[in-house]
Amino acid sequence: MRHYLKFTDFTRDEYQYLFDRTVKLKALHKAGELYQPFKGKVLGMIFEKSSTRTRVSFEAGMAQFGGHAMFMQSKDTQLGRGEPIEDVAQVISRMVDLVMVRTYEQSIIERFAENSKVPVINGLTNEYHPCQIMADIFTYIEHRGPIAGKTVAWIGDSNNVSRTWLQAARIFDFKLNLACPRGYEMTLLGDEAYGAEHFEQFYDPYQAARDADIVTTDVSVSMGYERETLQRKKDFINYRVNEKVMLQAKADAVFMHCLPAHRGEEVDPEVIDGPQSLVWDEAENRMHTQKAVMEYLLLGKIED
Ligand code: CP
Ligand code: NVA
Repeated sequence: MRHYLKFTDFTRDEYQYLFDRTVKLKALHKAGELYQPFKGKVLGMIFEKSSTRTRVSFEAGMAQFGGHAMFMQSKDTQLGRGEPIEDVAQVISRMVDLVMVRTYEQSIIERFAENSKVPVINGLTNEYHPCQIMADIFTYIEHRGPIAGKTVAWIGDSNNVSRTWLQAARIFDFKLNLACPRGYEMTLLGDEAYGAEHFEQFYDPYQAARDADIVTTDVSVSMGYERETLQRKKDFINYRVNEKVMLQAKADAVFMHCLPAHRGEEVDPEVIDGPQSLVWDEAENRMHTQKAVMEYLLLGKIED
């Protein structure tokens, strides 16, 4: 049994397989053809934080596969009243076939997975957002071809999304330039280490964006960090992706954002709503890529 708790849980070859599979699943869906390998199967989804895309993409994907997705908010379950995560995992995983968890510390989802009888997927933690970056890389490849050798410029917080881009940089062999205010630098976890060919820290967004192939950003106040809102709004004031930042990047560079976006804060409307933006395809591809992940975790490789 496999889990998908962080980006490094799959190898480059596995991502290649998953992307090939995503292309097929997306084409089937667009053609209106039914493919329902999950009849009678249930995905349990535990949300300890808000969501639009993650909930809808998993729930719609599961319905398209002929299965069912069960939405649980921790505040409405006994988890919200202090039931141990280990006990919740034991119980839920005896009744469902697959679980998706969106929570706070990565250690929570790891404890859940250790006690789960079924595969567990990370739907976002404070530390990582693997499903997001899988969809982002798939989207880039769909529009521009291979990402190896390219430069991704991240303008903003060193958070779950940028940390996952960093994990992906080594696996896919691209470089992440990260520009953030002093005091918000990327913190590496566990035994992670990245060479200069995969990661460079900047404080100047213009320098980070120079000759980049992808420019990307995210909210400066992630879920769970709301108490830091006032300070962060001040600290990140000069870390907004505007047209001047985009002009530093290559002429055919794309703009990406995991969403939800805050126009006028981390990105200007001219950029996110402009011709270089891939944000809507990026959001849609959450569903197609996650269908490939769910199919792989439950059924293994599909030979065709
Ligand atoms: N990008 C993303 O995970 O969006 P939601 O928070 O809406 O799920
Ligand atoms: N970094 C953001 C991503 C939201 C999808 C957060 O964790 O709130």
